[in-house]
Amino acid sequence: MRPLLKWAGGKRSQVKRIVGLFPGDIRERGYHEPFFGGGAVFFHVEPNSGSINDINPKLMNFYRVVRDDPEALIEEASKYRYEEAEYYELRTRYNSPGLSEVEYAAILLYLNKTAYNGLYRVNSKGEFNVPFGRHVDPTIVKPRSIMRASRLLGEIEIRCGSYDYVLDAAEEGSLCYMDPPYHPASETANFTDYSTNGFKVGDQERLRDLCLELNKRGVNFVLSNSYTEKVMEFYGGHGFRIESLKTRRSISSKVSSRDSGYDLLITNNV
Ligand SMILES: C[S@@+](CC[C@H](N)C(=O)[O-])C[C@H]1O[C@@H](n2cnc3c(N)ncnc32)[C@H](O)[C@@H]1O
Repeated sequence: MRPLLKWAGGKRSQVKRIVGLFPGDIRERGYHEPFFGGGAVFFHVEPNSGSINDINPKLMNFYRVVRDDPEALIEEASKYRYEEAEYYELRTRYNSPGLSEVEYAAILLYLNKTAYNGLYRVNSKGEFNVPFGRHVDPTIVKPRSIMRASRLLGEIEIRCGSYDYVLDAAEEGSLCYMDPPYHPASETANFTDYSTNGFKVGDQERLRDLCLELNKRGVNFVLSNSYTEKVMEFYGGHGFRIESLKTRRSISSKVSSRDSGYDLLITNNV
C-alpha cells in the first residue's frame, strides 16, 4: 500500500529498485526499518513481522495509534477542517503538552496533509513551525488506508529511539532497510535535521560500523545514502554491493548545483 504520510526523503519513487535488492522471500523474514519516516518501503513490502523505529516521538505515536486505535484516529481527524485559522489553532495545540495520544496523532495527520509542501519541520525548541499550505481540497482522512495500515502494523514492534536497537532486534536471516538522514552532498548543504537531532559525519561512521556488525551476524541490510565520496569511502572495500540510483531531486530547481542527482544503495545481499 501507499504510505500514510508524505515525508522528507520519502522513498516512494525508488521503492522498486530498493526492494529489488531484498531477498525474494522477504515477507517470510523479519523486517526492520530503524529510520522509518513515512515508511514507503515498509508499506510497499507489507512484511508480517519485525520492527519500525524513528527518533521522532510524535511520529511514532502516530503509528502506534494507527495500529491500536484506528477508529478513534479517524473520528478525531475527521473533525478538522482545511482552513487557515483552524490550521494555526491546531498547530498551537500540537505544540502544547497534555493532549491525548489520539489527538496528537490526528493533528499530525492533519498537519501532514495541510502544511506547506507537506513538510515536517521543527524549531530549536522542538515546535512544529511549518506555515499553512495552499492545496486544492486536500483529503485529510482516508479511513480505508488507515484501517489497512492498522492491520499491517498488527504484529510489528513500534519503537522510538536511536537506530542502533537493530543490533539486538535483528535476528540472523532478517533484513534491515536503513534510510538515515543523508550525508550532505556539499559542505554547505544543510538538510541533516529531520527531527531536532542532526546526523553528523561521526553518526554516519557509527552507522557503517553497525552495518559491518550486522553483516558479521548474518543479517541482510540495504542502506540508502547520498552519492558522495565520503559514503563511497565508508562502504567501499568491505565486499558490499554498491549501486547508484538517479533521484527525483536531480530535476528540482531548489537543489544545490553540487548535488550529483544520484543516491547510493548499499547492500550485503550480493
Ligand atoms: C530519510 S528519512 C526516512 C524516510 C523514509 N524512508 C520514507 O520513505 O519516508 C530519515 C528519518 O530518520 C529519522 N532519524 C534521524 N536520526 C535518527 C536516529 N539517530 N535514529 C533513528 N531515526 C533517526 C528522522 O526523524 C527521519 O524520519
